Amino acid sequence: MISRNTIDEIKSRIDIVDVISDFINVKRSGQNYKALSPFTNEKTASFYVVPNKGIFKDFSSGKGGDAITFVMEHEGMSYTEALRYLAKKYGVEIKEELTPEKDQAAQSERDSLYIVMNYAKDYYKDLLHKSDEGQSIGLTYFRERGFTDRDIEKFELGYALNEWNGFEKTALKAGYSPEILEKAGLIVKRENGNTYDRFRGRVIFPVHNLSGKVIAFGARMLGKEKDQPKYINSPETDIYHKSNVLYGMFQAKNEIRKHEFCYLVEGYTDVISLHQSGIQNVVASSGTALTEEQIKLMRRFTENVTVLFDGDAAGIKAALRGIDLVLKGGLNVRIVLLPDGEDPDSFSKKRGSSELVQFLKEHTRDFISFKIDLYTADASRDPIKKAELIRDILTSITAIPDPLKRTVYLQECSKKLEVPLSVLSIEVKKILLAGKTNEAKSDRNAPPQQDGLTSSLSEIHSLSKSFLTSEESLALFEREFIKVLINLGHYRTAEGEHAYEYLFRESQDVEFLNPVHQEIVDQYKIEVTEGHSVKPSDFMRALSPDTAAYVSGFLVQKYFISEGWKKHHIIIGDEYNVEQSSEKVIMQLKLGIILKMLGDNLQKVKEQKTVEEQNEMLEIQATLDGYKNDIARGLGRIVLPGLTSGQPGVKHFQNQ
Ligand code: UTP
Ligand code: MN
Repeated sequence: MISRNTIDEIKSRIDIVDVISDFINVKRSGQNYKALSPFTNEKTASFYVVPNKGIFKDFSSGKGGDAITFVMEHEGMSYTEALRYLAKKYGVEIKEELTPEKDQAAQSERDSLYIVMNYAKDYYKDLLHKSDEGQSIGLTYFRERGFTDRDIEKFELGYALNEWNGFEKTALKAGYSPEILEKAGLIVKRENGNTYDRFRGRVIFPVHNLSGKVIAFGARMLGKEKDQPKYINSPETDIYHKSNVLYGMFQAKNEIRKHEFCYLVEGYTDVISLHQSGIQNVVASSGTALTEEQIKLMRRFTENVTVLFDGDAAGIKAALRGIDLVLKGGLNVRIVLLPDGEDPDSFSKKRGSSELVQFLKEHTRDFISFKIDLYTADASRDPIKKAELIRDILTSITAIPDPLKRTVYLQECSKKLEVPLSVLSIEVKKILLAGKTNEAKSDRNAPPQQDGLTSSLSEIHSLSKSFLTSEESLALFEREFIKVLINLGHYRTAEGEHAYEYLFRESQDVEFLNPVHQEIVDQYKIEVTEGHSVKPSDFMRALSPDTAAYVSGFLVQKYFISEGWKKHHIIIGDEYNVEQSSEKVIMQLKLGIILKMLGDNLQKVKEQKTVEEQNEMLEIQATLDGYKNDIARGLGRIVLPGLTSGQPGVKHFQNQ
């Protein structure tokens, strides 16, 4: 049992933001921190850390507590395990007190699995460095592949002797039971009861969990024997579920956070060769398509993933299809196409590290734009192919959960493919509808549709909401602005001014699209000028009955801030504090306006007769695009396709 003093010592050293940051990507939000909940699949952040109280609260799963609770919940650790983990992290020496016997007996099976896997890892490591066979075969192999000592150590690579029972014998002698060795997948039992080591005569790649514990091994053969699999992997155990793991995540997570994106490669060796080139924000899917769990894991650290493909044509199109799931998971996907037939490992070996780094930098493309270009190259002259291509791209776009991002991509698509936005929107609705119908068909328990006509009409109606025209998104952002104005406008910000002062200052020249919104803003200004209270209930009385009815829909519970909390800008429900909310709606409003201007301007481009006039409009378009990206970056959650290849439209018009 860990002594009381040790526990107190650990607690006194804990910095909750630091602890949580080892597992998920937290962002500063006023005095506190926010993140996407690691416990649910949410798309907007509702996980809060309050450092000066040392607590976290996750509004989407309902979990909450201190740093120790977090580690327990997140890593599935017991209280003692979590304490040990934190003691190690903060360099606190653990003083044990005498353990009651029943506690000793109750040490969980998961604990013993971790312990035996750690033992095995040390065993294989030792053999690699200290045995003759390990040095002459294993270490030589790694060196030939160009693995540095530093990375061999960082990934804790090892070697398994070419013997049937080498590991088993040593482990039994060290006191491990045959049962636990088998449960851990380290030895295999034949039907006749005989056992043998699972990993023999191979180099060993340990797989770590997020806190660095070994949970599995992949063992690669050295020669080229035809009748053997290239890798032998650990089976699923109580501590290892292949579909939840990304190889290299433990070594990559801090770098991913730092760079705000993650490279995704195929195999163990790809991860290590990127590390050798100095790129450490990389994980591997281990040879299979990403699972939902792995996507969720990645989202704990970043929303941006850059997938590395090898460049053979057949592979590309197959691989592209798998990407839709990643888009669906809410990740922003970029891609790098390596030269024909190369993987990161072979590329860096042939051309060297710095060239690989350079190549990745220069060839990273936004996924949707990439897909559009890839297909336009061979489809632009063939109308049937073009229709197919449009469907395919739109299918990818519909997979993106964020309507704003979808809208932006749709505009991009319309621009590049020279198809009107309205036509694309109709196609998209068809795709969404087809998806729904398939879902319904595959769900045998679904009740039969009572009235085909009305249900499909309402379907279309609701689907039309999943894509926003620039005008619709602006209207939406206006409404958000009004919502915050009414609910939070009368509070003071940290600067000491009223939130409405900030809101009005930042929206000075804005004319609201919706006349009701304009009326509300005008009335609000009148009220404050006349010195009247603008608390929601008072302000309502100043409005016409119709407008008041409209506004009453905005008086949302989550905006009500209790008196005690409001001084400290404490976060409530799933919304921000006063400053955060105000800033967010202002940025959204600006984004909405820019999107609308982009839409209007594009229309003008098409109406211009001369090349000069068109070019002028296109220059405006490019400037607006720049603004849009700036604001979106500010908003922090949207990656928009930039003008990657200069100004695509300009080139086109000059050629005419
Ligand atoms: P690769 O065949 O590309 O292996 O499979 P690799 O790791 O890049 O090895 P080198 O560079 O050719 O030496 C990619 C990944 O697929 C999984 C492994 O995770 C591997 O890293 N895999 C492959 C297996 O699990 N079993 C296999 O037999 C083959
Ligand atoms: Mn490979």
